[in-house]
Amino acid sequence: MIKKLFLPVILIIVISGLCLANSWKAPDQEKAKERSKETVPFIKEYVDDCKINRRICLMDAKVSLEDVKDVYFLLDSPVIKEKEDHYEPVRFAHKRHAALTKDCSKCHHFRPKDKDALETTRCSACHQDAFNPERPERIGLKAAYHQQCIACHKDEAKGPTGCKECHLQHVPDHKELVKLPDNADPFQVTAECNRCHDAQAEDMLKTAHWLWKGPSPYTTGHRKDILHGKGTTALNNY
Ligand code: HEC
Ligand code: HEC
Ligand code: HEC
Ligand code: HEC
Ligand code: HEC
Repeated sequence: MIKKLFLPVILIIVISGLCLANSWKAPDQEKAKERSKETVPFIKEYVDDCKINRRICLMDAKVSLEDVKDVYFLLDSPVIKEKEDHYEPVRFAHKRHAALTKDCSKCHHFRPKDKDALETTRCSACHQDAFNPERPERIGLKAAYHQQCIACHKDEAKGPTGCKECHLQHVPDHKELVKLPDNADPFQVTAECNRCHDAQAEDMLKTAHWLWKGPSPYTTGHRKDILHGKGTTALNNY
């Protein structure tokens, strides 16, 4: 048990790191949040005739970077959310991606049949439920994002491909979760965290934070051969 005393300290460092990471707020954060809650009617008919020439079609339609009004989007569609909601919204730097790729057609691969529709109609207009019996060839929105985003990141060997690089897990409010008496001692605190975080505690025991050892520069005459550290002589903990 004594070994696990370090956990709260490490986790507090992690929490403060997360707080710092979250303290950056985009100027249009509220707008992006509002937008992410929108649903759009399902579009059945699309134009397939110029898939190969889609880039040219978009150029003919004079669609360009100037049409990219939003710096970034939060992707958090209710279409997906009603089925599963494990994560925080995914941040997607749209303008940056459009500028880097220089080719809208890489992502906006089809257009609706309706002549007045936007060339760059949202993915969620055509991709919604995972399976639509009327349009069985159409993949759902989650798969559409996963396939397109991750495939390009793999092809280009740039951009995130691991779950945690795009997703932040929902973290419940710990004020409600942690139950401790007043003036709890450090062991009680650790035990309380470990009630739910035992796996993390076990993982930490395998890391350098726990296993470090090194020469002791102040031990006269034995500078090279006396090793100190949690991995050897140190009893504790923080
Ligand atoms: C390139 C970024 C990216 C990567 C990598 C990625 N996802 Fe996603 N994921 C998304 C996007 C975008 C959505 C759709 C978000 C929305 O509209 O709700 C999504 C949605 C989801 C959802 C449904 C929404 C939710 O909150 O529950 C799950 C579950 C999910 N992803 C799991 C995973 C898993 C597991 C991995 C790793 C195998 C992974 N994702 C990797 C971008 C990514
Ligand atoms: C890397 C992929 C990618 C590239 C490249 C890209 N977009 Fe997008 N675009 C998206 C995604 C994803 C959305 C959000 C779709 C949603 O909310 O369902 C979007 C949304 C849009 C929207 C908003 C549509 C609406 O109805 O609100 C416009 C306009 C747009 N893109 C224009 C462009 C233009 C113009 C280019 C090229 C200069 C471009 N995009 C390049 C992925 C991309
Ligand atoms: C106008 C409707 C429409 C829009 C808008 C649309 N898609 Fe699609 N998408 C389709 C259709 C239809 C298919 C199936 C086509 C096929 O099998 O030939 C498809 C297929 C896909 C596939 C499967 C592989 C492939 O490329 O064929 C992915 C991935 C995908 N879409 C992602 C997206 C993303 C991401 C967006 C938004 C940036 C988007 N789609 C916008 C209609 C659309
Ligand atoms: C056509 C290729 C392409 C597609 C499609 C694409 N990306 Fe990327 N993405 C890139 C490249 C290239 C980078 C690296 C950019 C850099 O290093 O500056 C990147 C970087 C990122 C990053 C890390 C940098 C940042 O902007 O925060 C995130 C997050 C990301 N992409 C999310 C997504 C999501 C979510 C989607 C799908 C909606 C997506 N990407 C679709 C090419 C793509
Ligand atoms: C009743 C259960 C419970 C207790 C007790 C608890 N947690 Fe958590 N904690 C969770 C859940 C659930 C999550 C979110 C899912 C995850 O990351 O495992 C979480 C997430 C976290 C995260 C964020 C991890 C991330 O990936 O973003 C930190 C840091 C954390 N807890 C620290 C603590 C500390 C420190 C204590 C003790 C003071 C504690 N927790 C006690 C349930 C608990």
